[in-house]
Amino acid sequence: VRDTLTAPPARTQVPLRHLTGPHALDRALIEHVLERAAAFERATEIAAGRLSGRLLATVFYEPSTRTRFSFEAAMHRLGGQVLSAENATGASSAAKGESLEDAIRVIGGYADGIVLRHPEVGAAERAAQVSTVPVISAGDGPGHHPTQALLDLYTIKKELGRLDHLRVGLAGDLRNGRTVRSLALLLSRFPGNELVLISPPALRMGEDVVGSLEEAQQDLRETEDLGGAVADLDVLYQTRIQAERFESSEEYERYRGVYVVTSEVMRRLPEHAILMHPLPRLGEIDPLVDDDPRSAYFRQARNGLWVRMAVLDWAMAR
Ligand code: CP
Repeated sequence: VRDTLTAPPARTQVPLRHLTGPHALDRALIEHVLERAAAFERATEIAAGRLSGRLLATVFYEPSTRTRFSFEAAMHRLGGQVLSAENATGASSAAKGESLEDAIRVIGGYADGIVLRHPEVGAAERAAQVSTVPVISAGDGPGHHPTQALLDLYTIKKELGRLDHLRVGLAGDLRNGRTVRSLALLLSRFPGNELVLISPPALRMGEDVVGSLEEAQQDLRETEDLGGAVADLDVLYQTRIQAERFESSEEYERYRGVYVVTSEVMRRLPEHAILMHPLPRLGEIDPLVDDDPRSAYFRQARNGLWVRMAVLDWAMAR
């Protein structure tokens, strides 16, 4: 008779489904997640009980509204439960100097999956290296934000009916904006898209992403001129200047307000196009344009729920 207190049960080794960056998302997986998200949106009842008895830890070393709440709502809607560290920097043992790796090893003993937001590029990948449960990135500093990019694709598909042969303008702080860095890479998985990168020279998208796009022979144009670019776009994706990533407040002030989407900009945007923003916004979209039917950013935030349900279902369902 096996001593059940000392002998671990036999386990089949199934690779864990981590989602630590856009490299993990090939076109087949993107399409699977988007289809599953659409199914959850059409019929929420099919989600009931899918993750019943499972626990998700949401571990956030940086502030969040949308990502944390939507992941937690998604887990509850799938029938699971949540352990939450909404301020892991100040209120976990990170404040005593514990390493990320040790924290992840320990939390993985209590939870069946971990959603991690951290200020350091590569943190989610480091966590995945030591984790015994799936790790899903909720943003790693100015690195990447893969589930935001998935919900952005979901929004584009829902609003415009396709993910290919689109001209997409990504505007603002492309150096530090992790959402646009991930979105550019995911858009390059679909044929015929053209990316227009709109930023001041100092806030250009990093060579790591631009190099990958060029390697994938992605049609790419860079400009500083927002007004000149909008007239032939299908999607204008505006971003916040990321104050928290600048070395000084003087440098941030130099770029704050560099691009503002006003009613005048919206007059130039084609009638069929949409305006997106990952939010939070800080003055870079005039609230006067909120009622324009092309302003999709609050619908976009809402879509995070369905997409994160699909991501958790993919990563954690038995
Ligand atoms: N878009 C986004 O990541 O928002 P939060 O920082 O509020 O999660």
